[in-house]
Amino acid sequence: MDKLQRVREALADSDVFGCLTDEEIDRLLSLGTLVRVPAGKVIFQKGDPGDSLAVVVSGRVRIGTLTPEGREAVLNFIEPGETFGEMALLDGKPRSADATAIEACELFCLKRRDVLAFLAAHPDVALRVIGLLCQRLRRATEMVEDAALRSMGPRIARALLRLAADHGREIAGGVRIELDLSQRELGAYCGLARENVSRQLALWRDAGLIGKEGRRLVLRDRAALARIAAESR
Ligand code: CMP
Repeated sequence: MDKLQRVREALADSDVFGCLTDEEIDRLLSLGTLVRVPAGKVIFQKGDPGDSLAVVVSGRVRIGTLTPEGREAVLNFIEPGETFGEMALLDGKPRSADATAIEACELFCLKRRDVLAFLAAHPDVALRVIGLLCQRLRRATEMVEDAALRSMGPRIARALLRLAADHGREIAGGVRIELDLSQRELGAYCGLARENVSRQLALWRDAGLIGKEGRRLVLRDRAALARIAAESR
């Protein structure tokens, strides 16, 4: 499939632009640029000025923050067809978090001026952007709730179920989380130290609740994890 066709398909399937006709997608294509980013590259950092958003055409992007002492929080992973960078574009403030390519990525990038004109002409797309912001706010609320109210087991179980809902693929005997996550990254996603997450995962692996395929986690007993996730502490 040629490059243009791949971008067209990613946009037609995307969270924000998925409601457009073929003609409207072609118009959008003429406004943006395709950027290739190698695995591991920082796309932008928290605090940078931001006047563009990106739709992931291929690859995956990690959204997170890093303190000056090297402590990390992982907020989200962005998949093909998903948009990031919309917040600074919309409110004109600096980037709210870092974005890093965790795989080689192709990003379709649009500038603020073009996006704002496009949103004014397409209120259905504007509503989808609002929907995306609501979904991210809900996720952020869940993560704050987990950090404030839940102990380690429920917190890790909830994080795994969230990752499975967003990035999981059903396979024989479970659901595989399609992210090559290190235990440090998983800890940063749960807001817990790597050692604590490793210890809990080892217990659940021995009990048959989870497994591994290469670097990917497999949830083998979602019902048991859901019971743990529902514990109030
Ligand atoms: P922006 O602030 O421009 O740059 C960082 C991007 O990360 C932000 O836009 C969103 O696209 C994304 N982002 C920020 N916070 C979250 C979050 N809590 N959950 C998911 N995505 C986020």
